[in-house]
Amino acid sequence: MNRDNNDTASLLSIRHLSSEYTSRNYGLFGKKHIKKVLHDINLDIYPGEIFGLVGESGCGKTTLARCILNLTAYQGDIFLDGKNYASRLERARLVQMVFQDPGASLNPVKKIGWLLEEPLVIHRMGTPEERAALVDETLTRVGLDPSYKKRRVTELSGGQKQRICIGRALILKPKLLIADEAVSALDVSVGAQILNLFRDLHESLGLSVLFISHNMNAVEYLCDRVAVMQDGKLSPPAPV
Ligand SMILES: Nc1ncnc2c1ncn2[C@@H]1O[C@H](COP(=O)(O)OP(=O)(O)O)[C@@H](O)[C@H]1O
Ligand SMILES: [Mg+2]
Repeated sequence: MNRDNNDTASLLSIRHLSSEYTSRNYGLFGKKHIKKVLHDINLDIYPGEIFGLVGESGCGKTTLARCILNLTAYQGDIFLDGKNYASRLERARLVQMVFQDPGASLNPVKKIGWLLEEPLVIHRMGTPEERAALVDETLTRVGLDPSYKKRRVTELSGGQKQRICIGRALILKPKLLIADEAVSALDVSVGAQILNLFRDLHESLGLSVLFISHNMNAVEYLCDRVAVMQDGKLSPPAPV
């Protein structure tokens, strides 16, 4: 299905989205459980906007982010730039995500240069020379410098690791970055620096950000609009 949406002004447009998890008890005749997690979600995010999504732990925020990337099954429609992309790879070109624990998403065996180049290789983008130049540019953009490409993950602080994760997301030049509790595991001062990095990237690249957090202070500092999720339902967005 590749139905197009009329509302081409939105970068991300979610219509009547629901999602559920199915599990089974052990055994041949294990009973099937269906747990509804998201109920009739409607949301628009516009180009260049920083949108906050807040709500208690377990209310469904990460599930919504995973639906946007098509990593979790859902009912309803998700339009990106007005199009209903079915493949994960196509969506990943437009939307990238950064997670809470930067250490967990980086392979400790590889050098930083390799880790930054990997998304380009997966998406078959650029020549080796172009990719090397983009790695240098990206390191600078996330507040590090090209000398970091020779280091390994174990030689970096938590904040530096998160900068690398943000770099891996940015190197594909997405239009929307989803930050899922991306500063929650960091010390307050380091978290504040990462918030400022999101703001810089938003200003210099016109990047849109879906900032998911349970920290209202961070949302107030960074976001243009905010919506509250409760038990899988979303409040109408309000200006911050
Ligand atoms: N893979 C899964 N299988 C079954 N239930 C899940 C799975 N992932 C999350 N859940 C449940 O779905 C609900 C929403 O989870 P999640 O989206 O991670 O919430 P949040 O990010 O807001 O903390 C929770 O009750 C959680 O236990
Ligand atoms: Mg979560």
